[in-house]
Amino acid sequence: MDRRPILFIDSGIGGIPYCSNFRERNPAETVVYLADHLHFPYGKRSREELTAILGALLESLTGEYDPKISVMVCNTASVSALAELRERFPSLPFVGTVPAIKPAVEGSARRVVGVLGTERTIDDPYIAALAGRYGSDCSIVKIAAPELVDFVENRIADAGAEEKRQVVSPFLERFREAGVDALVLGCTHFLFLLEEFRREAGPGMKVYDSVEGITKRVESLLDKNDAALRAPERKSAEGVFLVSCGETGAAGERWRNFAAVLGLPFSVFRIVHE
Ligand code: DGL
Repeated sequence: MDRRPILFIDSGIGGIPYCSNFRERNPAETVVYLADHLHFPYGKRSREELTAILGALLESLTGEYDPKISVMVCNTASVSALAELRERFPSLPFVGTVPAIKPAVEGSARRVVGVLGTERTIDDPYIAALAGRYGSDCSIVKIAAPELVDFVENRIADAGAEEKRQVVSPFLERFREAGVDALVLGCTHFLFLLEEFRREAGPGMKVYDSVEGITKRVESLLDKNDAALRAPERKSAEGVFLVSCGETGAAGERWRNFAAVLGLPFSVFRIVHE
């Protein structure tokens, strides 16, 4: 039995649907969610910058919370920095989020798979390697959508149904024109628009995400060695939703509301080790 928390890290709110799925199935586990809005958006940063930022964050977070597992609920952070972070923090098990290319390749009848992500993710050789490994007979159509990341991070709470439909539909049009019948949502922020993506994609294009896969991966780490890392049963677990920028007033209220989605209190996180 291990009462230590599980860390969930993203550049902002993108990891919330992932963390929420995990918590529903594992209510006894304590989670510490970090929205690193101070460095948002990750997609516009270089691999080197992201490795340095995430290294410093983890240095602080591990010192303060002593987590038992760290989940990068961010494709950009995972493809850019996970290998280095695993080396730098050898005793901390990591779970990374990468675009669900394998199931999409398996599900594509036309052999044309679409990947929607940040500029950083789309350009990373890791994506080409995944595509080569699982879908060498497929063409992969990659589109970067930084404006969609920004829309979700900064506007989703106030956006209406029609506005959400309008932001996803031009992307779906481009994928449709390219013949895509299997689309991978390769950025965790896009999960906030999953319903719109599914509805607008229609029956001719299936939409893939990694939410279930990540929950299962964390659960398998908890269950290893006779469930050594599992927390003891309890009615309500503790946890905290951290935001790395010190926004107050209306902006602070926004973060409080996001924290409430996960049923967690909100707190500002200041990086100690830079
Ligand atoms: N949520 C992140 C991802 O999955 C990145 C968003 C950003 O650019 O900060 O890639």
